[in-house]
Amino acid sequence: MCGIIGFVGEEQAAPIILSSLENLEYRGYDSAGIATISDGKICLKKDVGHLEEVQQKHHLDELPGVLGIGHVRWATHGGVTANNAHPHLDCSGNIAVVHNGIIENYRELRSRLKSKHNFISQTDTEVIPHLLEDYLNDGASLEEGVIRVTKQLQGSYAFVAIYSREPGKIVAARQGNSLIVGLADGRKFIASDSLSFLKMTDQAIFVEDGEIVVATKDKVRFFNQDSLELEKSPGKIDWKWDEATKQGYDSFTLKEILEEPETARRALMQDKNLVMDMALGILRARQVVFIGCGTSRYAALLGRYVFSKFGGGFSPVIIASEYPYFSESIDSNTLVMAVSQSGETADILEAVRAAKRKSATIFSIVNRVDSSLARMSNKVLYLNCGPEIGVVATKSFVAQLIIFYLLGFAIGNKLDEGLDKLAAAPSWIAGNHRENGKGLIKLAWKLRKRKDFYYIARGTNFHIAGEAALKLKEIAYVHADGMPAGELKHGSLALIEKGTPVIAICPEDYTFHETLSNVEEAKARGAFVIGVSDRREDVFDKWIKIPKVEEIFYPLVSIVPLQLFAYHSAIARGLDPDKPRNLAKSVTVK
Ligand code: AGP
Repeated sequence: MCGIIGFVGEEQAAPIILSSLENLEYRGYDSAGIATISDGKICLKKDVGHLEEVQQKHHLDELPGVLGIGHVRWATHGGVTANNAHPHLDCSGNIAVVHNGIIENYRELRSRLKSKHNFISQTDTEVIPHLLEDYLNDGASLEEGVIRVTKQLQGSYAFVAIYSREPGKIVAARQGNSLIVGLADGRKFIASDSLSFLKMTDQAIFVEDGEIVVATKDKVRFFNQDSLELEKSPGKIDWKWDEATKQGYDSFTLKEILEEPETARRALMQDKNLVMDMALGILRARQVVFIGCGTSRYAALLGRYVFSKFGGGFSPVIIASEYPYFSESIDSNTLVMAVSQSGETADILEAVRAAKRKSATIFSIVNRVDSSLARMSNKVLYLNCGPEIGVVATKSFVAQLIIFYLLGFAIGNKLDEGLDKLAAAPSWIAGNHRENGKGLIKLAWKLRKRKDFYYIARGTNFHIAGEAALKLKEIAYVHADGMPAGELKHGSLALIEKGTPVIAICPEDYTFHETLSNVEEAKARGAFVIGVSDRREDVFDKWIKIPKVEEIFYPLVSIVPLQLFAYHSAIARGLDPDKPRNLAKSVTVK
């Protein structure tokens, strides 16, 4: 998955494209490039590295021309090399293309084209400019060429193309990957995400699958694949552009963790009728199936527990990429609860599409109001936590938990009681940040050479062990296992040796005594025990204090210091927490 942008206006395009790419970099940061048109020629610069590095080396912003395209890459097909970076050109160098997605039939297309065309990259994308080249040489206009190309492609894509012989126009197409048009007087944008142009305009139109967009500085037109023009009107993007800036913090990750008290407050601001309506839908469904990936899946695991506690029955949680193997069990009486921060995760969208084909009802919990998932769902609760730019999900997880609690209370017909109880959540979280801030920095530095961590817990807290381990893996590049405490003795105990960090999430709840017994077992083998609890125990070498709360809310207060621990571990190891290697925020490929 990658970030793409096309711009056409009256002023120099490259500085605008560069600044737009900065806001898309969360989607990919292993290489970057920009192509513009000037004096009837394509001007192109691209290379491997973070956008800032590529800019320093090549001065992308100095490319001439009032129109251009840009790309930040997260490699899928072909290694991280300058040739594989986008934009890609045709043989003549007159056509340039940026693409996000995967062209599944690129091998067939490439072998068909290669006798006449010179391929210089290993990417799937490069077939697009070469296909276009043939159509444009036959006399097609850029938009006609793009329409014909889309009929050849299988897979998912959002791409933007420019052509030096039609220098006032950018043309884009979408199938399966997000694409949004931004409109301002004399300036038009076509991008993967509205964050890329929000500083310049909040007026936008979503591009749907199968649509083709033709933009000039004054006008945007939409077509379907039969070349029929479509009527579409703009809407307003609700987010403010400065929410997507660091606002003085060292990193987005830290900013987003420290925003969590506010996140909790905003997640509680839901339409009560909608929450009750969704709770009724959950109670009426023959079966409820959760789907999510990564952090969103951990939130769903807690959702399953909350639903079961409040009377919604037992619901399976399916990792979205595994959904196809369970799809036989889905029917029109199934309610699929899809959980996703971005609402653009390809595995989730694919699962939801398949569930819709079986006539299942789709409820979702999403952050991005403009996302594909939100638009595919029958009902949606929004996280309201603003842009989350750090690649690791932090504040969105807190918001997801809050929403699951609200739905749980609504299922038990106690929504007002839930809202009253959760009104204290912002102060639990803020207190937690204050209490543990310095201690966690010291702990992260003390353990910075350690290569294996074990997070153990029981019951609902087990999901926090999984999520906390995921955080450490993602940003500190450390092997971490999150496991049920009772499982340790069934195998992993063999890996515990003197000094191995074991982080036990053991609030004083129904899991407390049994988890402590497992902690003792690890300690007896030399483990360095870190206890995350509201009660101090002698067995802890280090105590991370959490507030005493009602049993069901312990996951909400346990995750917060563990996110901070992962963050400080990344810093202690000299790593950039916002841009962990090999990862990207929005996984828009399967
Ligand atoms: C979380 O820290 C990860 N970056 C990742 O696991 C993420 O949660 C997953 O890709 C799902 O993303 P989504 O919530 O946007 O669907």
